[in-house]
Amino acid sequence: MALRLDGKIIAQQLSKSLQNKVKELKTKNIFPTLCVIEVGEDPASTIYLRAKRNLAKKIGINEITIKFPSSVTEVELLQKIAELNRDPKINAIMVQLPLPEQINPLTIVKAIEPAKDADGFHPYNQGLAWQGASDILPATVRGILEILDYYKINVSGKNVLVIGRSLIVGKPIASQLLNRDATVTIAHSKTINLEQLTKQADLIISDVGKAHLITSEMIKKGAILVDVGMNREQGKLMGDIEYEECFEKAQAITPVPGGVGPLTVASLMKQVIILTEYQVD
Ligand code: GUN
Repeated sequence: MALRLDGKIIAQQLSKSLQNKVKELKTKNIFPTLCVIEVGEDPASTIYLRAKRNLAKKIGINEITIKFPSSVTEVELLQKIAELNRDPKINAIMVQLPLPEQINPLTIVKAIEPAKDADGFHPYNQGLAWQGASDILPATVRGILEILDYYKINVSGKNVLVIGRSLIVGKPIASQLLNRDATVTIAHSKTINLEQLTKQADLIISDVGKAHLITSEMIKKGAILVDVGMNREQGKLMGDIEYEECFEKAQAITPVPGGVGPLTVASLMKQVIILTEYQVD
């Protein structure tokens, strides 16, 4: 029987401490402000953004959403970002992904001032993070690290398997765990024998978006499982990992929902506050 790694409780504690931090900043006339750019109406983005907006409000962060139609041009978005970069009242900027086809997401991400990069996607911040020299990280990465820290999971010398190589999760979590002295393998859609790798792993982080990907036969007894997958099947939300059967064999496992998800949103807010504090220092 595994330990259920409860992201909700950690997120609640984190939110409480962020709420206190914002109160303290407000006594100094500092009002942390996040600007979210939303393009078109992606249904998953609408759900994420609602969660972000609600939590920002609860914590006391000023959240401003700027909406563009899906027909927006790259130039129009770049102009708006340049304006926000210059605006001293805006501490953090994020552009919700995915973007419509005519827009290159990397061009947009690169246009955000690194000091206002709420998502930690800018190549400058990603580069520093690779060097272990930045605390500006993608929110999901920060969320995973919060779980490991809360439950005192030490990865030093452990075999960690990251499944997925996105700029949002796979690559940056791999670098952070490498910085924590883990032996890290990154698997992806072209990996030939995934099972051979999962069986060796002390810790698996899966960010694929494929339900039932990891079964109990594929894992080592006593493994720690962190599920970043978000899949909907017949209206039910589930991760990449077969939770019930793996729960019997693993040492610890994050549920979906209630694992990494709540911490991703809370971690974004933490990052907004970190950016705000850097700017006023
Ligand atoms: N789309 C899915 N996850 C994310 C995220 O963390 N940040 C942004 N900007 N877009 C996303």
